[in-house]
Amino acid sequence: MDSIVIHGGNRLNGSIPVSGAKNSAIKLMAASILTSEPIRLTNMPRLADTRFLGALLREFGIEVTESDGADGQQTVFDAREIKSTFAPYDLVRQMRASFNVLGPLLARTGEAKVSLPGGCTIGARPVDLHLMALEAMGAKIELDEGYVTASVPNGLQGAEIEFPFVSVGATEHALLAAVMANGTTVLKRAAREPEIGDLARCLISMGAKIEGLDTDELVITGVTSLKGTDWSVIPDRIEMGSYAVAAAMAGGEVRLTKGRGDLIVALTELMRQAGVEIVEEANGDYIVRRDPTLRLKAVNATTEIYPGFATDLQAQFMTLMTLAEGESVIQEKIFENRFMHAPELMRLGADITVANGEARVRGVESLRGAPVMATDLRASMSLVIAGLVAEGETTVGRVYHLDRGFERMEEKLGACGADVRRVKGEAQEH
Ligand code: UD1
Repeated sequence: MDSIVIHGGNRLNGSIPVSGAKNSAIKLMAASILTSEPIRLTNMPRLADTRFLGALLREFGIEVTESDGADGQQTVFDAREIKSTFAPYDLVRQMRASFNVLGPLLARTGEAKVSLPGGCTIGARPVDLHLMALEAMGAKIELDEGYVTASVPNGLQGAEIEFPFVSVGATEHALLAAVMANGTTVLKRAAREPEIGDLARCLISMGAKIEGLDTDELVITGVTSLKGTDWSVIPDRIEMGSYAVAAAMAGGEVRLTKGRGDLIVALTELMRQAGVEIVEEANGDYIVRRDPTLRLKAVNATTEIYPGFATDLQAQFMTLMTLAEGESVIQEKIFENRFMHAPELMRLGADITVANGEARVRGVESLRGAPVMATDLRASMSLVIAGLVAEGETTVGRVYHLDRGFERMEEKLGACGADVRRVKGEAQEH
């Protein structure tokens, strides 16, 4: 298995283009099930997660064609005919969000059998709210041997659904089903994450009727069929935020292009408080500047639903705080077990204690390279960021986590002067 080897100490200077958002792309891909006409997605990131979902869509008989066109990386999904509605465990377990094909399969064909995704390292991550929403829309659901078997004998029906708390996945799943339900569906306490907005706008371009965009109440009037569309995936705010933190950590000046600063306002605010200079230009470029001889200040951060500080940037921000002056308290409010990166950062010399859903990070003068292990997708990026400043060599194992969500990471950081390379094969795995 591959590892990433980093020699710390280089400043970052240059420019990094932000890719299309993984968390939007996989939802837009699921939307392709809803129509017999082709969907062309541009600004498509090429990631393990989009590959996994592509493989699952092919199982259903959907043609998936990737190419590099005039608009950059694109993928066309042609679901003229759905030949199977079975999503096997082997494909769903590789990427949890694959579970969200259930709703669109039901909407398009009236039945589906989809594996339950199971937990992951950041927590149990149940799908009870997803099932609650589909049942409210008239789906008959049976759970057996790890599979959900669902059918809608009378078609999906519009319903009023109030989520007990905000879930990105459940909102998206309910939306994907409601656009073709009979009548009106109201989703209360809906997630407002930008990727939901991107999905809703794409669905509207396919002919769906959705009101309340970017609010916590979506009103969807079902239509009987949807058409094909051309859609450009929104920029990946988590990738953008990760490189912004990397630049702040290493020092230097990095220009992030093709991103959207308005999607990472909470992070920008925290980094400015810590002493990082950030300039947002009129053309959308986002410039991160830091004199590495000046020490950053510790600031506290709490993860929240959007537009609050994103849980997917928590690990990266914690890394930044390992070298800041003072103590930073980082609270995780979205997932139950999302501090797996803390012990790995401590292997690099960080001073962190984790208790009761919060991490206390006492800034140290420097980090030292060591072999560390990626524990989940975003945590793996936090270890790469730490490696950029750790003295000597840091080897990050279990890189498959990183490959799920960061496109050409070594190339992007390498272009700004980082000494980051991928080492192939077993020998480097820890
Ligand atoms: C999505 C993102 C992920 C991000 C997260 C929170 C995708 C593919 N992934 O994950 O990167 O970290 O939002 O911003 O977009 N929950 C339940 N029952 C449910 C559903 C969720 O209890 O049926 C709980 C979860 O365990 C978690 C919380 O709700 O504690 C929020 O999870 P949710 O917003 O659903 O996250 P995901 O959609 O899985």
